[in-house]
Amino acid sequence: MSNDAEEPIIEVTDLVRDFHGRKVLNGVSFRVMRGDTMIIMGGSGCGKSTLLRHIIGSMKPTSGSIKLFGEEITTMHPSDLARIQRRFGVLFQSGALMQSMTVGENVALPILEHSKLAPDIVDLMVKMKLEMVGLTGFEHLKPAEISGGMKKRVGLARALALDPQLLFSDEPTAGLDPIMTSVVDILTQEMTRKLGVTAVVVTHDMVSAFRIGSRMIMLGTGPNQGKIIATGTPEEIRSHANLEVQQFIKGEPDGPVPLKLKKADYVERLLGQPRPSSKALS
Ligand SMILES: Nc1ncnc2c1ncn2[C@@H]1O[C@H](COP(=O)(O)OP(=O)(O)OP(=O)(O)O)[C@@H](O)[C@H]1O
Ligand SMILES: [Mg+2]
Repeated sequence: MSNDAEEPIIEVTDLVRDFHGRKVLNGVSFRVMRGDTMIIMGGSGCGKSTLLRHIIGSMKPTSGSIKLFGEEITTMHPSDLARIQRRFGVLFQSGALMQSMTVGENVALPILEHSKLAPDIVDLMVKMKLEMVGLTGFEHLKPAEISGGMKKRVGLARALALDPQLLFSDEPTAGLDPIMTSVVDILTQEMTRKLGVTAVVVTHDMVSAFRIGSRMIMLGTGPNQGKIIATGTPEEIRSHANLEVQQFIKGEPDGPVPLKLKKADYVERLLGQPRPSSKALS
């Protein structure tokens, strides 16, 4: 396989995923080049995590193609998929830590799973990754004993445990304070800019998105559900003509995605029938 810088690390073509007759992904195509930080954005429930789950091979599409490092993964044998999965790290939206294990054991998990290193080397690697995310000294605590933001950082340390060439993060900064958000952003930037790691980051955090992103895609909602409605560099997205994109990046409550709390018809919509008496509600 060629290491040509122009060959995409990820190539998604015409991806469709149908859940019970509803197309949550409906013809999604994009490429991610080496060293890029691709931001995936879009409203809650628009399919971002579902898209990520397909790219990491944990879900199979209804149709379409996904190539990682030039190899088609949708039809791949599980043992080949495992070989590809070893080359990337994933930070899940929920953190997905093992509750019965300590912080240190959680970070060690992928190292123990994929290598036969001596325990003191594993220990050293765990300490290095925890130091990177500012959690030195927390290795003996259980997930239940640390804060939500700390769990996120443990998840990141675990995703980085095997020095991946590709990093997937689902909402890596949700629940973090602004300083920790910068720390996580800087870590991602250092990996992509200094080490040539490629990152795919799902985020609602527009400060973070514009700070770290080199390319961006936005998934639509409503009639555009499952489709990419905008793609480009951060500058192109910032000045994008699509009003749904503008509403999203500026965080405006009403726009093409309608504000659903207009007082006049609120109760009618909830009950699915005309309001019985306006007096009863005043
Ligand atoms: N396994 C599944 N079975 C059926 N429907 C699913 C499944 N997984 C996701 N969905 C549906 O797909 C849609 C997209 O979900 P997804 O979790 O990808 O959204 P999201 O964009 O990540 O949202 P958020 O920003 O809130 O995390 C939702 O309507 C969800 O109910
Ligand atoms: Mg999600």
